Amino acid sequence: MKKLVSAGLDIGSSKVAVTIISTDNGVVDVLGVGKSESNGVRKGVIVDIEETVSSISAALEEAERMCDSTISNVVVGINGSHIESEISRGVIAVSKSDGEINENDAIRAIEAARAVPNKPNREVLHVIPKTFTVDGQEGITDPVGMSGIRLEVDTNVITGSLSAIKNIQRCVNQAGLSISDLVFSPLASSKVMLTKQQKEIGVIIIDIGAGTTSYAVFEEGDLVYSKVIPIGSGHITNDIAIGLRTSINIAETIKIKYGYASPDKIDEKEEIDLSKLDKNESTSASVKYIAEIIEARLNEIFMLIRDDLRSINRDGMLPAGVVLTGGGSKLEGIGEMIKDILRLPTIVGKPAIELSGVVDNVSDPVYSTSAGLALWGIESGNASQSKKPLTPELSGLMDKAKNMFKNFLP
Ligand SMILES: Nc1ncnc2c1ncn2[C@@H]1O[C@H](COP(=O)(O)OP(=O)(O)OP(=O)(O)O)[C@@H](O)[C@H]1O
Ligand SMILES: [Mg+2]
Repeated sequence: MKKLVSAGLDIGSSKVAVTIISTDNGVVDVLGVGKSESNGVRKGVIVDIEETVSSISAALEEAERMCDSTISNVVVGINGSHIESEISRGVIAVSKSDGEINENDAIRAIEAARAVPNKPNREVLHVIPKTFTVDGQEGITDPVGMSGIRLEVDTNVITGSLSAIKNIQRCVNQAGLSISDLVFSPLASSKVMLTKQQKEIGVIIIDIGAGTTSYAVFEEGDLVYSKVIPIGSGHITNDIAIGLRTSINIAETIKIKYGYASPDKIDEKEEIDLSKLDKNESTSASVKYIAEIIEARLNEIFMLIRDDLRSINRDGMLPAGVVLTGGGSKLEGIGEMIKDILRLPTIVGKPAIELSGVVDNVSDPVYSTSAGLALWGIESGNASQSKKPLTPELSGLMDKAKNMFKNFLP
């Protein structure tokens, strides 16, 4: 197989990350990573174009410098609580008179499902086929080659706000790049963080970012549910700043250095001398009190997720459990806490696929989205030498459906 190069761009609420990878015979090699502070994004959504363009340029430059190459196309992530997923059914009449279903019929059925009742200012990001129904017989995974007259497909359609999408396009284009694909962030992270087997038996990936917590549930290999909550680890930092009356910067340092997810395991007497962190401070802070602040916010987030899982009848029911990613997953003790709240085995921040390369921090969960986006580019055939710099708007609907179908086939 030819060596393919692909780049992923993750525009997060706290950082913009770029990962450049190449794959050779299925081995993923991380060639370069770049990261810059993101000041133009709130809760996963771009609120300042100029700031975001300069963050993208800085992260891109760093990644390009690392591998001495120039990138012109990127797969970009999209996140934010404006993203919605809904179930949609597509129905078509099989085209051939002898009734044998071909790939084109399957693509047409998926396209029909894409036409969810058109809501103003929304754009379809993904149409993920689940199972097909042929002449009333349900649960068919691959209908191609079967006989039938009526073909139906059940899909999960993911949509996003048109203005949020347009702002991403604007920023990426202004940074001198074209978008080869726009991908819902947790779907991209799942490419790196989840194994095929975990997706098959049932798993939830939860990405705790700075401004959002996004999650996606997979079963029988497919995405069955996803959501973005506009609360992330940055809220924990704010809570600590308020609770201790310190600056955000000190609160962030305290969270990273001394933060723990549950207060039960912490000695009452453990104190931090704040003057060691900042000479303008003179007091000390209780580590247990800080853990109480952290626990309260994490409880809020994970109770929402638990209720959500309950509403889709998956509460405590996903055998492969929880896989945590995103910078917020680096908090000490978080795995134990989530295991107790969600009553599911929990794995923290370990990529499921092997990432190799010159870069030390390739496995840092902060890069899981950008690495997943880059991998998405390779798997959907949008890697650099394919010479297909398409914006999502211009890319043919058929192409997209074909990619979906390709991903869907075993
Ligand atoms: N060691 C650590 N312990 C606790 N929290 C951490 C640690 N390292 C990073 N974080 C937190 O992770 C968050 C950043 O994570 P990430 O880079 O995944 O967010 P993002 O992608 O920019 O945001 P979003 O996905 O919400 O738009 C910050 O709030 C940061 O404080
Ligand atoms: Mg993120």
